[in-house]
Amino acid sequence: MASAKIAPSMLSSDFANLASEAERMVRLGADWLHMDIMVRSPSPFRPFQPLIDLVGWVSQSLLSNVDLLWHFVPNLTIGAPVIQSLRKHTKAYLDCHLMVTNPSDYVEPMGKAGASGFTFHIEVARDNWQELIQSIKSKGMRPGVSLRPGTPVEEVFPLVEAENPVELVLVMTVEPGFGGQKFMPEMMDKVRTLRKKYPSLDIEVDGGLGPSTIDVAASAGANCIVAGSSIFGAADPGEVISVLRKSVEG
Ligand code: DX5
Ligand code: ZN
Repeated sequence: MASAKIAPSMLSSDFANLASEAERMVRLGADWLHMDIMVRSPSPFRPFQPLIDLVGWVSQSLLSNVDLLWHFVPNLTIGAPVIQSLRKHTKAYLDCHLMVTNPSDYVEPMGKAGASGFTFHIEVARDNWQELIQSIKSKGMRPGVSLRPGTPVEEVFPLVEAENPVELVLVMTVEPGFGGQKFMPEMMDKVRTLRKKYPSLDIEVDGGLGPSTIDVAASAGANCIVAGSSIFGAADPGEVISVLRKSVEG
């Protein structure tokens, strides 16, 4: 069985004090620091945005796919320069989650900056995941793949079974973009399927995890737990980290 990794999402930290927030999380028992890299990429489809919005209004699930033409997430966070600055202050494992439309452009900068894990989204790498995994490894990072709530879990099987495989699957339990959203328990079917097929795989869950949702995720088989608002918003963040760990370790 894969070991428990508790990964506070630094998206919920005080970005102006990132180094001390990272140090505090490690001191309180975090195994990894989860870094959310989001970019609102420009797109040639900008003139069609009103039409895209209309289609999205008609079909919510279609929206999440059509939205990829415009930007992967409607938010902007940090990039390689911030990872590079943080790396000077911590030896912690930096678990980087790339919510961008062009992950291959980020491999070299993130590797140089000192990222430990590089998790890309399958929705934007259907044609080049083999090269992407190869280049992530060649830059000394651990490759992972993530899937949005609307993406079927079967899409990531080939990446886990490849000759040069990903070493982590990140199952999104909210629509990517923001912290503080509600956990989607229906995503646990994906986690159960993955755990059954791959007993020692690192399976990460991200979005809405905290003391009230951890048992469902842990019993489905998740071992890497990302938690932002539940840790940073708690009166005793160390206690939350230990509750999450106990649930995963059983
Ligand atoms: C959402 C990010 C998450 C987010 C989780 O797109 O990938 O990592 O920070 O935040 P919480 O735990 O507050 O849902
Ligand atoms: Zn994330």
